[in-house]
Amino acid sequence: MAKNAAQQIVADDELDELIDGLKQTEKMISPKYFYDERGSQLFEEITRLPEYYPTETELGIMRDNIDEIAALAGKQASLIEYGSGSSLKTRVLLQHLDELAAYVPVDISEDHLLESARSVREEFPDIDVLPVVADFTQPFQLPSPKVMPVRNIVYFPGSTIGNFTNEAAQELLQVMYHEAGADGALLIGVDLQKDPAIIERAYNDSAGVTAEFNRNMLRHLNREFGADFDLDAFTHSAEYNEEEGRIEIRLVSEQDQEFNLGHASFSIGKDEAILTEYSHKYTLDGFAAMAETAGFSVERVWMDAERLFSVQYLVRD
Ligand code: SAH
Ligand code: AVI
Repeated sequence: MAKNAAQQIVADDELDELIDGLKQTEKMISPKYFYDERGSQLFEEITRLPEYYPTETELGIMRDNIDEIAALAGKQASLIEYGSGSSLKTRVLLQHLDELAAYVPVDISEDHLLESARSVREEFPDIDVLPVVADFTQPFQLPSPKVMPVRNIVYFPGSTIGNFTNEAAQELLQVMYHEAGADGALLIGVDLQKDPAIIERAYNDSAGVTAEFNRNMLRHLNREFGADFDLDAFTHSAEYNEEEGRIEIRLVSEQDQEFNLGHASFSIGKDEAILTEYSHKYTLDGFAAMAETAGFSVERVWMDAERLFSVQYLVRD
């Protein structure tokens, strides 16, 4: 479909960003390019894998503590969710939050977001569901709900915060701080440091879904940005960097090869990699310190019995 003028500007900016990343000493592509329609479906599959503990664990924490979470959120809040995906965990909130003023899911993956919003509306016909297709790392406009909210609760589950460098995560937390407003809060899913073997298994599943999710990024770029990556010539790699406390996901070139993206051409050597994602795992103190730099203080932390994952309620200092 032909792009309109505004879409063309976004696509041109994205192309510049992509080319810039691939010109770095270590070639890199932002993880936001995982999420085309197929990427979103593959992520859904990942969440159901036996090795991928974060989703099941976070859902359990939400269910176990929902009464306390709902009491903290209070009446007539507006729930603004960043990177809402299929709104799976959100449904627990939607069932329990009192007289919600609106639910505003924000996601870059347009078709997936609109389908999820349709399904949420069907399940919760009394809730004002206002989806926003946007890259939340860029400024975007939030819609006005029909009912004036008492406060904004920003919801950022899944430990998607971990996909950002500490510097970018701090900037994003600052945006959320302003979004939450004086009486608002941030409810956030934060994955925790643990035995590296558990973490590495979660990103190297035996069914190969994460590998397919990783390679699908190249398919996305071939289709949307006229690139010509040979998908079969790249291998998935996911290793835990203990010093940095993060999984590092790469696509490793199996041979010396060339590829084109927009007007730029690149060479990549055998065993050279493209970095596609970080997934940071935090200590409770480390995350609290980062949240503080954005103006938040940690009011409440809920965890599972094994302390694999946390859900945290942050308020403004
Ligand atoms: N919140 C869901 C999904 C997490 S997957 C869960 O907890 O399971 C990350 C989600 O964030 C995807 O739906 C992806 O499309 C979205 N996303 C990633 N980067 C984004 C960006 N820069 N702007 C908007 N959405 C983004
Ligand atoms: C969305 N995000 C928090 C996931 C993660 O665990 O970092 C993305 C993912 N990448 C590979 N598997 C899952």
